[in-house]
Amino acid sequence: MGVQKKIAVILGDGIGPEVIGQALRVLDTITKEYGHDFTYTYAMMGAEAIELIGDPLPQETINICKESDAILFGAVGHPKFDQDPASLIRPEQGLLKLRKELGLFANIRPIVAYPSLHHLSPIKAALLEDVDLVIYREINGGIYFGHKETNEAGTEASDVCTYTKDEISRIAVLAFQHAQKRRKKLTLVDKSNVLETSKLWRKTIIEISKQYPDVSTEFMYVDNAAMQLIINPRQFDVLLTENLFGDILSDVASILAGSVGMLPSSSTGTGTALFEPIHGAYPQAAGKDIANPIGAILSAAMMLAHFGLKKEASKVRLAVEWTLQNKFVTKDIDPVNFYFASTVGEMVCDCILNKRNDAIHSENIEIRKSTII
Ligand code: IPM
Ligand code: MN
Repeated sequence: MGVQKKIAVILGDGIGPEVIGQALRVLDTITKEYGHDFTYTYAMMGAEAIELIGDPLPQETINICKESDAILFGAVGHPKFDQDPASLIRPEQGLLKLRKELGLFANIRPIVAYPSLHHLSPIKAALLEDVDLVIYREINGGIYFGHKETNEAGTEASDVCTYTKDEISRIAVLAFQHAQKRRKKLTLVDKSNVLETSKLWRKTIIEISKQYPDVSTEFMYVDNAAMQLIINPRQFDVLLTENLFGDILSDVASILAGSVGMLPSSSTGTGTALFEPIHGAYPQAAGKDIANPIGAILSAAMMLAHFGLKKEASKVRLAVEWTLQNKFVTKDIDPVNFYFASTVGEMVCDCILNKRNDAIHSENIEIRKSTII
């Protein structure tokens, strides 16, 4: 029996529209194949929304998201705002506010180092073997959302970092449950040798870990964790951490995958879950059809799994692996022999439809391969 789902689509800025375009194409293929019925409602956020409405997160977008079963989101950000750090309105505020409005407190970022991409990472291939970890980053609290202040003279500023035991517990439970289904190891990353909030994180995790005796719980300071992710990434299974540490560590961890363009994420909590690639808006590549659509496509796979459509999700993942193995990759993966994003998306769809390898007209595909951009 097919399922019906309402999906809010936020294309966002930069390469957002084109990578989400490929993810939607993959979802269309899946829904047709499996008889599901997904309806899409488009909503605005980020630089485009500032330009058109003067608000990075219009109320209408919040309403559409609240009424949907999931949100598929591209990216926000525009260089014109980066040049002016004093700018009061920024595209990123849209995403931060949406996370808060929907109570999305857990940002989940799986990092897999595909063997065919080991050579792309600046990390030695031997260290990348069997790397498969997932970051649970808290995204509703901490220094991102604490009281912020700059004095009148503009010479002193502060950002307050606050966490409550409840805020820590609710994400910890999700992380422990996920660890139980994986290699049964959870590492809490904190700075409890210095920060009060980190002490609370550690105390809370020690307490909760007693309910998960099958999971081995470890603790690591964030400075060491940044180093360990590079020198021994295999040791991590589920990495749990607060907002700012998670922001930084997930970028560090992304280099293990060879390209940030490969990585998906989900944000879950009390409201509608959101699925987005972790790469940013990458404005230099916008409109050129060269950005890697795999992060967006794998985010759509996470959305399918969230709907309980496990077979469909794994079909998408296998199709992505097939494109990698057959070198249907974008410029970030192979700067010489690369394919356009739309061709990669098409290949993923073809593979889902079980079109045989030799049924694909290689000549036609070769035409869409480009070495000049
Ligand atoms: C991320 C991004 C955001 C964050 C920005 C865009 C506000 O870097 O999702 O990691 O810092 O959380
Ligand atoms: Mn980030």
